[in-house]
Amino acid sequence: MTATKGLEGIVATTSSISSIIDGVLTYRGINIDDLAEQASFEEVVYLLWFGKLPTQSELDQLNKDLVENAAVPSQILEQLKMYPKGVNSMAALRTAISSLALYDKEANEMSREANVRKAIRLQAQVGTIVAAFARIREGKEPIAPKSGVSLAHNFLYMLTGEQPEDIAVEALNKALVLHADHELNASTFAARVTVATLSDIYSGITSAIGALKGPLHGGANEAVMAMLEEIGTADNVESYVNRKLENKEKLMGFGHRVYKNGDPRAKHLMKMSEELGKITGNMNWFNMSTQIEELVTSKKGLKPNVDFYSASVYTSLRIPRDLFTPIFAISRMSGWTAHILEQYENNRLIRPRAEYTGPATAPYVPIEKR
Ligand code: SDX
Repeated sequence: MTATKGLEGIVATTSSISSIIDGVLTYRGINIDDLAEQASFEEVVYLLWFGKLPTQSELDQLNKDLVENAAVPSQILEQLKMYPKGVNSMAALRTAISSLALYDKEANEMSREANVRKAIRLQAQVGTIVAAFARIREGKEPIAPKSGVSLAHNFLYMLTGEQPEDIAVEALNKALVLHADHELNASTFAARVTVATLSDIYSGITSAIGALKGPLHGGANEAVMAMLEEIGTADNVESYVNRKLENKEKLMGFGHRVYKNGDPRAKHLMKMSEELGKITGNMNWFNMSTQIEELVTSKKGLKPNVDFYSASVYTSLRIPRDLFTPIFAISRMSGWTAHILEQYENNRLIRPRAEYTGPATAPYVPIEKR
């Protein structure tokens, strides 16, 4: 038995949800480039869950279901108010989502129908929780979701209390589409491992949020923004990048386990970053980002991943840095729940082996003789 570090190149399951073949990403066979330009996030959610694009009436029904389920139990809001000051936003989300299970009478009901209903509730409520958390920590009251608007619109509305601009809704919708699913990434794998024990959907999502939080995965978008803030201005980019490379430190938002010739989502986010920079009149983050990209690509051969330009996109939308990864979670909720439903359909316990590297034999030494 020989271990493959990080399970690189190991095919651990079959899945018909998304594919990465020769650097091309598809959801249910539809190229991400087409979805990014044309689809609403809600259409993508439907596509991931049910395997086809919705008809207008199917989409209307999903939108209705999402709106009707967007409010969270009052106990969850009370709980958010009790979290310690300054708590990590992904830790808060992980805890709140886990707590949702306690107020869901169907939490342990395992039929497909019940799990689809729970997926709808989770997708509808995750944005409400993130927005409520953001307001409560600033001493503001959470804002109830409104009906008749998209998830992207509602999130921005619940965050600020103001009617969001169309361009902001459009940008966030596209970011949600681009982050929705990504084959067997670490958080999705974590979700599938958890539910493959026939544990419930909330447990799977809680595992996934925990995995997404890390800076090698979803947490990278916040780390990218921290890097941009640390660099400060375009003049400092070159010395910063050189120093990082010389010290063999990671440049956040670069590299990928699967893509070696670039992440197909990055170009969409780069374009959005430039457009939003022009609109807001602040091109600093975009200009610094392109300079960093040029240097890291020419010196190290690494290309930006999905997290790199999403940092400047969210900043242009005036979203606080520590909500970037929770926004990734809002989007990826669709992919996680689709994978959980798929895992339940054809389940087998996921239990690989470990290559043992400890001593071959060792005596038990009584405690008084150690
Ligand atoms: C996401 O998997 C998914 O699908 C994830 C995701 C999704 O949609 O779900 O796409 C979202 O998580 C994007 C990735 C976000 N993470 C980061 O941006 C963090 C920075 N990136 C790296 O740490 C790294 O590239 C990973 C974690 C993304 C991938 O790690 P791997 O595949 O284990 O690669 P590795 O760390 O073994 O690196 C291989 C080589 C090493 O150099 P050598 O020792 O061979 O000389 O590439 C170098 C690394 O040092 N390298 C980097 C680097 N990424 C790789 N060097 C500097 N900066 C980097 N960012």
